[in-house]
Amino acid sequence: MPKKTIHDLGELRGKRVLVRVDFNVPMDESGNVTNERRIVAALPTLKHLLDVGAALVVMSHLGQPEGDPTAADFLQKNSRLSMKRVAERFRERLGRPVHLAPGVVGPAVQQVVQRLQPGEVLLLENLRFHPGEKSKNAEFAQELASYADAYVNDAFGTCHRSDASMVAVPNAARGKPRVVGLLVAKELEILNTLLTNPPRPMLGILGGAKVSDKVGFIRSLLSRVDRVLIGGAMSYLFLKAQGKGIGSSFCETKAKEGQKTPLEMAQEILELGKGKIILPIDHLVVKDLKDSSTATVVEGEIPDGFAGVDIGLKTIALYQDEINKAATVVWNGPMGKFEDEPYSKGTRAVAEALANAKATTVVGGGETAEAVEEFGLAEKMTHVSTGGGAFLEYVEGTPFKALAEIDDK
Ligand code: 3PG
Repeated sequence: MPKKTIHDLGELRGKRVLVRVDFNVPMDESGNVTNERRIVAALPTLKHLLDVGAALVVMSHLGQPEGDPTAADFLQKNSRLSMKRVAERFRERLGRPVHLAPGVVGPAVQQVVQRLQPGEVLLLENLRFHPGEKSKNAEFAQELASYADAYVNDAFGTCHRSDASMVAVPNAARGKPRVVGLLVAKELEILNTLLTNPPRPMLGILGGAKVSDKVGFIRSLLSRVDRVLIGGAMSYLFLKAQGKGIGSSFCETKAKEGQKTPLEMAQEILELGKGKIILPIDHLVVKDLKDSSTATVVEGEIPDGFAGVDIGLKTIALYQDEINKAATVVWNGPMGKFEDEPYSKGTRAVAEALANAKATTVVGGGETAEAVEEFGLAEKMTHVSTGGGAFLEYVEGTPFKALAEIDDK
């Protein structure tokens, strides 16, 4: 069902708009923002709303604060997750003043909200600093909803969550317009095309360490694509499931409560994807993970005493060839330990092949998006999703409660 967007909001001059964004950005130990992609991705919506004369109350969560939010020392313990640094980066990117609210809700915040003038922006403190966000508290949601004349969800990366700001707040805002922002609209449009009517042949590329985290996504992908290339540590699990030697490579073994073992999952997926799944034919392996001078390439099975860290050159050539034949490519998960430069060749080669491909190329968020950005290739993809978990769950077919609260066209 197509959702209303900010273009359906009507006259906004002199009105306040509450915008849920996903500014859950990575930060280093000192609290500096290390990747601002999610901030930049929300700007088109925010700029549009400001240009048409609205005042904005912007809200997001940041990280996963630890401890009981009602405890006296909670804020002090989690001070590095304040929106302070995010506000600085947001201000720079927006090119306008951004006021940081003195909290999430409460009388002091209400006062600042009441004083907001058209064209001004107020960023609330980290939503997860208030217990109501995770507990989905109705009063908390009611107060947030009361801050504005309209609610906008532009937080695609959080759409799989049912936190108060995503579901209870738009629910409390019933009667006022509740729409999606331009980022959510774009993500949904691209993913819906991918799921319903993709140009064919369609190729999936899967990587990363764990199969158990992505099993629903993998099943869904297999039912939609013509071929799937597998790389990263998960390929060792699949090779093991085929009875091949994987030496001392990382291999997921632990079953999550109530779930099958990763090996059983891999066996099932191999059966399901018969004729579609392509596994690496050679590997970059090391004797000692910390010593890249021990790296060598092996074909077929990985001997004892060696651990796989990347796909090998023959696999790279094979995967490049498959990418060149595809009309649509969806990629999620690196091909190896790309964060260590000597083991980044496979992931980089796949990213470059996608960047140069004629195909529609969609990259799922999280570390795949980080890799593509690190290689400076993000702009060359058709779309790099801002969703990690949200991207996986949407492709899996999970209905999002957050979107059910948005007005249909
Ligand atoms: C994400 O990064 O996937 C979203 O911002 C959701 O964050 P969460 O996993 O902490 O709920």
